[in-house]
Amino acid sequence: MCGIVGYIGDRPCRDILFRGLRKLEYRGYDSAGISVIREGRFDLLHSVGNLDKMESVLHQLEDGSTMGIAHTRWATHGRPSNENAHPHTDCSGRFAIVLNGIVENYLALRVRLQEEGHTFTSETDAEVVAHLLERSYNGSLRGAVAEAYRQMEGHFTFVAITTEEPDAIVAVRKETPLVVGLGEGENFVASAVPAFLAETRSVIFPDDGELVVVERGGVDFFTLEGEPVRREPEQVDWDEDAAEKGGYETFMLKEIHEQAVALADTLSQRLTHEGVVELEGLGLTEASARALGQVVIVACGTSYHAGLVGKYALERWARIPVEIDVASEFRYRDPVIGPNTLCVAISQSGETADTLAAMRLARGAGARVLAVTNIVGSQATREADGVLFTRAGLEIGVAATKTFLAQVLAVLLLALWLAEVRGTLPARRVRELTQELRRIPTLLNSYLEDSADAEIERVAREYAHHPFFLYLGRNIGLPVCLEGALKLKEISYIPTEAYAAGEMKHGPIALLDQGSPVVVVATDSHVYDKVVSNIQEVKARGRA
Ligand code: M6R
Repeated sequence: MCGIVGYIGDRPCRDILFRGLRKLEYRGYDSAGISVIREGRFDLLHSVGNLDKMESVLHQLEDGSTMGIAHTRWATHGRPSNENAHPHTDCSGRFAIVLNGIVENYLALRVRLQEEGHTFTSETDAEVVAHLLERSYNGSLRGAVAEAYRQMEGHFTFVAITTEEPDAIVAVRKETPLVVGLGEGENFVASAVPAFLAETRSVIFPDDGELVVVERGGVDFFTLEGEPVRREPEQVDWDEDAAEKGGYETFMLKEIHEQAVALADTLSQRLTHEGVVELEGLGLTEASARALGQVVIVACGTSYHAGLVGKYALERWARIPVEIDVASEFRYRDPVIGPNTLCVAISQSGETADTLAAMRLARGAGARVLAVTNIVGSQATREADGVLFTRAGLEIGVAATKTFLAQVLAVLLLALWLAEVRGTLPARRVRELTQELRRIPTLLNSYLEDSADAEIERVAREYAHHPFFLYLGRNIGLPVCLEGALKLKEISYIPTEAYAAGEMKHGPIALLDQGSPVVVVATDSHVYDKVVSNIQEVKARGRA
């Protein structure tokens, strides 16, 4: 989840682009770049780190040009570096692009382009786009963008400029955001409205696969085949604060609505067309995966709950004994681990002190350490033998939401990969399960879009006055309950307990008053009937 902004008009654009980037900084900021066209050539500026770093070198970019594109990067392919920062250019230096999202078939495209003689200067998936434009340009940037789009798989938005046509910016999207801002004698294109909200409130949201040609005098829309498309602008009345939240009341709510994208990104390029799990960078060979005698999961808070889901999956599918502990306990124990142990350390930030200490303890005892984290370049990535990245984008809300789901997905992928390598699940069953995983982002999106907010608000209003909640679940419903209870505690300040449903009668039931809300996770699984019995027990005692 990167940030994109483009400008074309009659004002010098360097500072306009930089101000746009500042407004998108909340989306991610491990590196940034600006490219403008001046005197028929590109002027490029890249910087690594946050935007303060870019601001300190901004003077190196002469402020004469009136058109350009800019990008803040949140690394997914290739570490944060000047080479990997966008904009990327082609071999001839005539095309520059910025991209948000993931090009799933970039390796195949890159190999083909290299065979044709193209030279790559970065490790990113995005750079292929600049070379695709170079290859197919035939006097029309719009045509070249359409051709590149046809060849690309994945979900992405990209914005392109060329020194051959210095009076146009061309953009296109596929399942990731793109918005056009309309001004007087100037126009904008961006990945989110805040980038230009200080300049205009007149906006157009293009559809997937629609070519957007932005010029000083106007913006035109075309199908991939070149047919004009008529689009009417709409006015946004958001204040700047609301705009950064994409119109949502809070970042947490916005991030809840980003969950499907977080899952799609985390899955991306990890399943082959046939549904085989492919995980790079684990630091484990297939032979060492087969030799594993034990997995130990360490994490804190929400990440620990994701780890609990991982324990169920690893044991069920990969048939490996799994131990899990909160890192703050594990680090002060004397755990029995050794060279055949894989320690999976889960940390969204990759910086949690207890988790890092637990990793060090495990490594010291000879275990192999795999970090599951959302942050490229974090301390956990530097100390681990291997890394499995979640790709949830920056999470601003302190209460984890989209990163939790991405962590769950990552550990499920790990369990399936191990199951296949260790031969504990037939290949056919792995394919069935990966097909199910592929469906989740779409299912989640349709749930969130189909009036979930109204239903959730109704339930919340009905129960908000209760002083205590109990959450009950079995199997992976239990970690889901633990996470739900944690959210209720930290967001609503309501005392909440979460229990294994079968434990309820061994004490916790005493906590319930007549009418106490009991939230039960009862999904379609082998423990469904058991959970229903627990609901009956609660009801029979006149509670809930
Ligand atoms: O960055 P980490 O995943 O290591 O953070 C661990 C916990 O502090 C974190 O998961 C916390 O419990 C959640 N933000 C609560 O919503």
